[in-house]
Amino acid sequence: MAGGSGTRLWPLSRAGYPKQFLVLTGSAHSLFQEAAQRMSSLAAVDLRVEPMLVVGNEEHRFLVLDQLREIRSEPAAVLLEPMGRNTAPALTLAALQALEGGQDPVLVVTPADQTVTDPAAFAAALRDAVRVAAGGAIVVLGITPDRPETGYGYIRSVPETGAARVAQFVEKPDLETAQRYLAEGGYTWNSGMFVLRASVWMSALERFRPDIAAATRAAWVARQSDDRFVRPGRAEFAQVPSESVDYAVMERCPGSDIDIRMVPLAAGWNDLGAWDAVWQVAPKDAKGNASVGDVLLQDSSNTLVHATSRLVGVVGLDDVVVVETPDAVMVADRSRSQDVKKIVQSLDKGQ
Ligand code: GDD
Ligand code: MG
Repeated sequence: MAGGSGTRLWPLSRAGYPKQFLVLTGSAHSLFQEAAQRMSSLAAVDLRVEPMLVVGNEEHRFLVLDQLREIRSEPAAVLLEPMGRNTAPALTLAALQALEGGQDPVLVVTPADQTVTDPAAFAAALRDAVRVAAGGAIVVLGITPDRPETGYGYIRSVPETGAARVAQFVEKPDLETAQRYLAEGGYTWNSGMFVLRASVWMSALERFRPDIAAATRAAWVARQSDDRFVRPGRAEFAQVPSESVDYAVMERCPGSDIDIRMVPLAAGWNDLGAWDAVWQVAPKDAKGNASVGDVLLQDSSNTLVHATSRLVGVVGLDDVVVVETPDAVMVADRSRSQDVKKIVQSLDKGQ
């Protein structure tokens, strides 16, 4: 899933070049390329890995192809959305494509905006998840939380033979609720990766959001294919309700007769969703400052400064994020990183 807009990483992440295509972490590759490489690496743990399906935005088709070519990865198909409708329709397009061949493969669904520092542990957890999903369950991967992050989904699970059963799934709780979950214990963060058979996704979606299923099917029927690009019908896709996998299906599975399981993932996982997360994973000096580019820091601590085109000086600031680009500069309290998207929303409204 590579069609997000990455608004919380404004102004580095832009509509035409969103965060998943950026090199953010000092790695040689973009987050999207790293995600693609992680998927290919699953072949090393005795999984038969088919070439991947990329679901992205029409506007980014060349970014997708160029970045895959750079890492010598050949996608089976690139499904191009004419406009973003969030991840539930995106996954539905992939499921419909996967079902075309008359098979019902297990899909390993991954975001394209994450980092993982332990690829071996990652592959081992995914192998377990695929095994559980092959039996017909929906599998989520749970991360041990270390802070009351409000940008994630929270999973409460109970041990059971095979894999833990998900008893509750809460997408992006408010801070008070997240703090309570951490205090109570027994919760993991949702990694945003889902492992499930294509048909299992379709029937869960038909059950909980038949409107999304029907509208996406209509767009799929009207699709046009051109080499490896597959384009759902534009007019039909425009009618698809915008919703995430988490709200549309995952939150509604516990308590229903759909088998939803959690496999733990301890692989140095991080979602680079917002500037605070970029600071978390960045190399830091003794005072906790991280900087990229031409930066001078004085008497500051736990601050992230990302300069792309000019020298940036920062004096006496703590827990702040400063991001400089040629045409926009953003300064924010690090703890308010999730709210950076509000700036982009007000820009979109022309305010
Ligand atoms: N194709 C496509 N189309 N991809 C999309 C779209 C879309 O309309 N919208 C988002 N994506 C992609 C993003 O590029 C990203 O790689 C992935 O789908 C997840 O979307 P995000 O918007 O980044 O989701 P999130 O981070 O707010 O929340 C999800 O991930 C968290 C962990 O990182 C949820 O699954 C949370 O529960 C989870 O904790
Ligand atoms: Mg994300």
